[in-house]
Amino acid sequence: MRRVVLLTLLLYSSLQAQENSFTINSIHMESLPAWEVSNGHNLTLKCLVDISTTSKVRPQHLVLFYKDDVLVYNVSSREHTESFFIPQARAFHAGRYKCTVILNNKEKTTHEYQVLVKGVPNPTVTLDKKEVTEGGLVTVNCSVKEEKPPIYFEIEKVELDTKIVKQKRQKTSFLNFVLMDFLIEEQDHVLVFRCQAGIFSGSGLQTSESTRSEYVTVRESFSNPRFQVTPPGPIIEGDQLDIKCTVQVTHLLQKYPEIIIQKDKTIVAASTEKNEAIYSVMAMVENSGHYTCKVESSRISKVSSIVVNITELFPKPTLEFSSNRLDQGHILDLFCSVPGTPSANFTIQKEGMVLSLSQNFSKVAEERDSGVYSCTAGVDKVVKRSRSVQIQVCEMLSKPRIFHDAKAEIIKGRPITISCQSTNGTAPVTYYLMKDTNIFQNLMMNSNDPAAFTDTPTKDVEYQCRVDNCHSHPELHSEILRVEVIAPVHEVTISILSSNEVQSGDDMVLRCSVKEGTGPITFKFFKENEDRPFHEIILNATQAFWIGKQASKEQEGQYYCTASNRASLTLASPRSSSLTVRVFLAPWIKGLIAVVVIGVVIVALIVAAKCYFLRKARAKQKPVEMSRPAAPLLNSNSEKVSEANVEANSHYGYDDVGNDAMKPINQNKDPQNMDVEYTEVEVSPPEPHQENERLP
Ligand SMILES: *[C@@H]1O[C@H](CO)[C@@H](O)[C@H](O)[C@H]1NC(C)=O
Ligand SMILES: *[C@@H]1O[C@H](CO)[C@@H](O)[C@H](O)[C@H]1NC(C)=O
Ligand SMILES: *[C@@H]1O[C@H](CO)[C@@H](O)[C@H](O)[C@H]1NC(C)=O
Ligand SMILES: *[C@@H]1O[C@H](CO)[C@@H](O)[C@H](O)[C@H]1NC(C)=O
Ligand SMILES: *[C@@H]1O[C@H](CO)[C@@H](O)[C@H](O)[C@H]1NC(C)=O
Ligand SMILES: *[C@@H]1O[C@H](CO)[C@@H](O)[C@H](O)[C@H]1NC(C)=O
Ligand SMILES: *[C@@H]1O[C@H](CO)[C@@H](O)[C@H](O)[C@H]1NC(C)=O
Ligand SMILES: *[C@@H]1O[C@H](CO)[C@@H](O)[C@H](O)[C@H]1NC(C)=O
Repeated sequence: MRRVVLLTLLLYSSLQAQENSFTINSIHMESLPAWEVSNGHNLTLKCLVDISTTSKVRPQHLVLFYKDDVLVYNVSSREHTESFFIPQARAFHAGRYKCTVILNNKEKTTHEYQVLVKGVPNPTVTLDKKEVTEGGLVTVNCSVKEEKPPIYFEIEKVELDTKIVKQKRQKTSFLNFVLMDFLIEEQDHVLVFRCQAGIFSGSGLQTSESTRSEYVTVRESFSNPRFQVTPPGPIIEGDQLDIKCTVQVTHLLQKYPEIIIQKDKTIVAASTEKNEAIYSVMAMVENSGHYTCKVESSRISKVSSIVVNITELFPKPTLEFSSNRLDQGHILDLFCSVPGTPSANFTIQKEGMVLSLSQNFSKVAEERDSGVYSCTAGVDKVVKRSRSVQIQVCEMLSKPRIFHDAKAEIIKGRPITISCQSTNGTAPVTYYLMKDTNIFQNLMMNSNDPAAFTDTPTKDVEYQCRVDNCHSHPELHSEILRVEVIAPVHEVTISILSSNEVQSGDDMVLRCSVKEGTGPITFKFFKENEDRPFHEIILNATQAFWIGKQASKEQEGQYYCTASNRASLTLASPRSSSLTVRVFLAPWIKGLIAVVVIGVVIVALIVAAKCYFLRKARAKQKPVEMSRPAAPLLNSNSEKVSEANVEANSHYGYDDVGNDAMKPINQNKDPQNMDVEYTEVEVSPPEPHQENERLP
């Protein structure tokens, strides 16, 4: 019905507005009593609108109130002022407010106004019980009904008499109340709980005053424990000592709490069946000290403590000894004594075994007497033990043996293991390996096994071992171990004495040498492409020679040599690089050849002349045939000369092939070849000729 009326009014006003002009001049808000109010006070928010119009009546308009952009109230009005009433403003009412006026199609909104609500209502505190036993729980309910969550609660447990805050707990609740459990402890008597509520609003955390609960009275479940020590007076060593701890338990407890007696951190007695625990022991000085008794149920623990003082009857015995470290065969003397107490029963023991029932013990030490010794002194029932003494008996080392592992000869650069061993003597044993009188390495062995050292000797060397242990005897030396080192053959070179070019008939001397290598060295001289050496020699030197008497053309060629010794692997004895040797004819042989050739020519000429004259004689008989036979004779002569020159040329060219690429150039300058140059054939071809020779 109301809506119908409102709609009718709006329809009417819009009709009116169509006829009349209107305008919203201004709009603003006011707050009563103020923009900030105390929690629980009434608050009125007003929206004031100023409208001008030509109409006689004030136009109907809609006024809307918003809090934090959410519509909270609307009203249709003809008035200047519309109000939004908040009875008993609470913290949750705080926020940013604005109002809007709507008139037909015109609308105007105020800016936002901050509303603050100061304070929080006091919370109410209720408890689930008025009486509780130690170890029990109290549930506290603290609530603020007026406010909306989240609410922050803080609850304190306070001892009524002393006003001491024993516990404080905080929690933010998403309801408007909170429940918290508080444990009742052993020192609690009469308790109250205080609660304070807090709410976050625009200006920060607002807090209430603190509200107090009713009282809770606490009842004890068991008393504090009490100690009782017997004998009550001074306690002397040997007395029977009883330390008893008792506790009073209320009927409320179904079972006994646990009772524990502790000395320092050690539990010495405990009980769960009775209201007491007892520690019984024969009093010794060691039992003096601080004792505590703890009584514990699940959540409650009560403690008390005492100091027990025990008087010493006699001091601890001391074990005197000749030396901590003895050589085998020396006398081991032990003497047990207690200052100022001459009449006591003594024992001397080694690792739990009684050696003597008197104050003295003495024997010739053996290695197996090493160990831990102690003694006891007893007066009546009181027996005291001395502190332990470690005694070592040392057996002397036997003369060390020295040996190496190399099966064959020792080759330079290869490691060898040198071992030393003293088979008898107390470990640990320290071995020093001496290398040519210097300490090379040392090793400590915890047994009599050999000590192994590794070395890579590079020359002949002498090793010796020195050993030492706890025995007083000075260091022992082994025999001297001499090690011969063979250097493998290294860098084999071949060379020729004098020039690489040997005149035929001269001696040719080849030398094969090595840079390094231990003798005897086997030198082998080879000619290239021959399987077997043409010379072989074993020498204690680093070089060997071979002398070729009266060199001939056949000895021309490439030579190399190999050298090997015991260190060389049989398959690959190092070889030198190749050496090229040329043998040339001696000038007198060339001369001889020339003489022979000239002689042959002269003989030929003589024969030819003779033939000529013979034919001339015959020509007188046959004149027609006269001029013909001369031409073939001339031709054959010139042919023979050129053939000889070609032969010589090709002979030298052939020799040089593959030896040296530079040779062909020399060849052209060779005086022997100059003879052929007049043929003009060799003027142009040098370049292609050279190239062809260089190609391989
Ligand atoms: C608050 O408003 C209520 C009515 O809503 C009124 O009864 C009460 O008296 C007002 N309180 C104060 C303090 O003005
Ligand atoms: C104005 O408030 C009435 C109830 O009082 C509601 O029915 C109506 O929807 C509201 N108008 C607007 C525009 O929210
Ligand atoms: C705590 O107290 C509040 C107000 O007294 C009550 O509404 C609520 O139910 C209580 N909570 C419990 C668990 O008793
Ligand atoms: C224990 O007794 C000795 C004397 O017997 C005394 O000197 C010492 O102060 C005592 N200690 C305690 C803790 O009573
Ligand atoms: C034990 O030996 C010490 C000397 O080492 C000697 O003076 C002493 O009389 C001996 N005691 C006994 C009981 O043999
Ligand atoms: C030593 O032991 C014997 C036998 O066990 C005992 O009779 C004697 O009283 C003891 N002496 C001392 C001083 O305790
Ligand atoms: C080494 O000790 C054995 C017994 O362990 C002994 O028989 C041998 O004679 C000793 N050798 C030397 C050299 O002392
Ligand atoms: C090399 O010298 C050793 C001794 O240094 C000698 O025994 C051996 O016979 C010599 N060998 C030759 C081939 O001379």
